Amino acid sequence: MSNPVSYHRDGSVLVISVDNPPVNALSHAVRAGVVEALTMVGDATAVVLSCAGRTWFAGADITEFGKPPMAPSLPDMIAALEDCPVPVVAAIHGTALGGGMETALGCDFRVFDARAKCGFPEVDLGIFPGAGGTQRTPRLTGLGPAIEMCVTGKPINAQKAAKIGLADSIATEDVLASAIEFARSVTAKRRIRDMDNPEPDEAASETWRKFALSRRRGEHAPLLAIDAVEASVSMDIDAGLDKERDLFVGLITGQQSAAMRHLFFSERMAAKVNGLDAKPKPVKSVGVVGSGTMGGGIAMAFANAGIPVTLFDVNADALSAGLERIANLYTASAAKGRMSEAERVARYARITPASGYDGFAGCDLVIEAVFERMDVKKAVFTELDAACRPDAILATNTSYLDVDEIAATVSDPSRVLGMHFFSPANVMRLLEIVRGAKTSGETLATALTVSKAIRKVGVVSGVCHGFIGNRMLKGYGREAGLLMIEGASPQDIDAALYAFGMPMGPMAMADMAGLDIGYDNRKSLVAGTDYEPLASSVQDRLVEMGRKGQKTGAGIYTYEAGSRAPVPDPDVDAMAEAIAKEHGITRREIGADEIVERCILALVNEGAMLLGEGIAQRGSDIDVVYANGYGFPRWRGGPMCYADSLGLDHVLERVRAYADGPNGKWWAPAPLLAQLASEKGRLSGWSQP
Ligand code: 3HC
Repeated sequence: MSNPVSYHRDGSVLVISVDNPPVNALSHAVRAGVVEALTMVGDATAVVLSCAGRTWFAGADITEFGKPPMAPSLPDMIAALEDCPVPVVAAIHGTALGGGMETALGCDFRVFDARAKCGFPEVDLGIFPGAGGTQRTPRLTGLGPAIEMCVTGKPINAQKAAKIGLADSIATEDVLASAIEFARSVTAKRRIRDMDNPEPDEAASETWRKFALSRRRGEHAPLLAIDAVEASVSMDIDAGLDKERDLFVGLITGQQSAAMRHLFFSERMAAKVNGLDAKPKPVKSVGVVGSGTMGGGIAMAFANAGIPVTLFDVNADALSAGLERIANLYTASAAKGRMSEAERVARYARITPASGYDGFAGCDLVIEAVFERMDVKKAVFTELDAACRPDAILATNTSYLDVDEIAATVSDPSRVLGMHFFSPANVMRLLEIVRGAKTSGETLATALTVSKAIRKVGVVSGVCHGFIGNRMLKGYGREAGLLMIEGASPQDIDAALYAFGMPMGPMAMADMAGLDIGYDNRKSLVAGTDYEPLASSVQDRLVEMGRKGQKTGAGIYTYEAGSRAPVPDPDVDAMAEAIAKEHGITRREIGADEIVERCILALVNEGAMLLGEGIAQRGSDIDVVYANGYGFPRWRGGPMCYADSLGLDHVLERVRAYADGPNGKWWAPAPLLAQLASEKGRLSGWSQP
C-alpha cells in the first residue's frame, strides 16, 4: 500500500499532506506517516498539516476499533504535533470530526475553509472524544460549548468555530494557501496544553446533563463525556488526559459502543445490494400523488434536498389544504430558526401543484401516496401509466399492500417499486425500498441513489405483507395485546418497553397512530391465521365505541383536551378483565421482564423468519429499519444485534418455551434462528448467501 502521507517544502514552511480516501480516517498508516513527516522539520519555521480529497480527517479509523492497538496511537501522534519544535497550523476543509478535530487541537493554530465544519460525533458511536478532545476543547472554548459539542455530537460551522475560539482564521479562498501564509506569519508555538484550565460552569453542566438524560436516554457516553470535560477544570492536562482515556476505554470496550458501531456500518452497508450492478438513472424532478400528511411530507423531503416536486391530489380542496399544511410547517421551522427565510421561500417554491395527472409528464420519478386500498392504488397506477414518460419510475408508498399486484396494472412493471416512507416523511430517516418480482436493477439502483440524495437510509425489502418493519411489528403488537388480557395494564406494558429504551410503549403508540388504522387493516386479513383476534379484542371494542386514540380524545388511554399525555383508564382494565373471563383466562401479575421478553423476542423471531425467506438481505438491514423507523434504541443496535447480545442459544430456548405456552401457535422458532443458534452464528452478521 502506498504511503498516504507526503511532505514538501513551500519556502520556509514544511507542508505535510495526507491522502487516505475516502474520508482521511486516521488509520495506522496515516498516524505513522504524520509522526515520521514531523521528523523532517529541519530548518523549517512552521509546519502546515493538510488533507487531500473531500475532507480533513473524519476521525479515528473506526474499522480499527476492537483490534489490537498499533503504535503510534492517535494520542501519540497528537503529542508529536504538540512536541514539534515549530508552530503547526491545521488547514481544515470538509469536516474535522472526532479524532480529526482532536488532531487539529494538537496543532498550534487552525485555519478553516469558510465551508468547513467540525464536531465530535463520537457520541453516536457510543463513545466520546478519546484523544484529548474533552481536555483541549474547553481550554479554548470554555466548558459550555465543549460539553455541548461532545453531548450532542452535532457539527458546527467554521463561523461558529471561530466565535467560540476553535478556528483562528477563516479562509475564503484556497485554505491550504491561506494556512501556509498564516504559518509564515506566526512566530511562536501556542500549545493548548499550556493554556489555563477553564472555569467551572455548573449551569452548563446541569443543562447538558438534563439534555443527556432526556434526549439520549439510556446512553452511557454523553454523561461520561460531561464528567470528562468537567475534569479539565481541576486537573492538570496530563491527569485530565489520563482520566479521559480511562473512561474512553471503558466505553469503547462496552456493548453500547459495539451496538452503535454496528449501526454505523450497517447503515452504509444497506445501500449495497448483492449482485446489483445497474447504473442509477438521474432524478431531477419528482411527482407525488396524494397531498395528505404522507404525500405532503414526501414532497417536503424532496424539496428540502433541492429537487423540484409536482404535487397532485384528485381532490382539489385536499390539495389546497395539503399545500397550506406544508407552508405552515415551513413557516414554523423558520420561526424556530431551523432554516433561514430565504431557505423557507426556496423550499416551498420547489413544490408546484398540478391540476391533473398530465402534470407528471416531465417527472423522472412519481410516488403514489394515496389511501391504503388496493383498488384505489391500482386506479392511480393506471392513470400514471398513461400520463408519465415510459421511462419514468413509478413508486408506491404502500405500507402493507402487494407491490407486485400494483405493478401488474402498468405496461412495464420493471419500472415499479415500493418507496415506503415513515411519518413524518420529511423527518424520519428510514425509507423501505420494496423490490417487486419484476423491478429492474436500474429502477432499484435509482431508488437507492434517490434515498441518499434526500438524506434517508434506504433499506431494500422483498414483497410481503408489511415488508420488513410492519411485518415484524405485528408480533410485537400481538404480544402487547395478549399481555393486556393476561393481566398487565397498558401503563405497565408501556413503562416496561419505555424502560427498555423504546421512545414510547406500544399502547401509547397505537393511540397516537389511531386504533382505527389497525382495525381497518385487520378487515382484509384472516383472523386466527394472519393475526390473533384475542390480542386486538380490547382495541376492536374501543374502536367500535368511537374511541380511536388521541384524535378522538380516548383510545386505550384517555386524553384531556389539548393534551397528548395518556391518562390510564380503569374502564379499559375492566374491559380486558371481562375479555379474559370470556376466554377462561386467569389473569396474573406480569413483570416488566416478561413484557419486554415477549414483545422483543416476537420481533426477533419474525425478523429471523423473514431473513430466512429472503425478504431482507441481511440481519443488519433489519437493525437499520428498526433503529431508523421504529425508535429501537440505537445503543442496543437493533433487534438482531440485541438478540446476538443475549446469545442466540438463550433466545431460541425462550422462543421454544413460548411455543410450548398458551399462545404457542405464534411462536414457532424461525428455522434460521435455530440454525444460527446451533452454529454459534449471529443474526446481525448474517446475510443471504
Ligand atoms: N473510519 C473508517 N471508515 C470511515 C470513517 C471512519 N471514521 N468515516 C467514514 N468511513 C467510511 C464509511 O464507512 C464509508 O465506507 P464505504 O464506502 O465502504 O461504505 C466511507 O467512509 C464513506 O463514508 P460515508 O458514506 O459516510 O460518506 P459521506 O460523504 O456521506 O459522509 C462523513 C462523510 C461525514 C465523514 C461520514 O462518513 C461520517 O460521519 N463519518 C464518521 C465520523 C466519525 O464518527 N468520526 C469519529 C470517529 S471516532 C473517533 O474519532 C474517536 C476518537 O475520539 C479517538
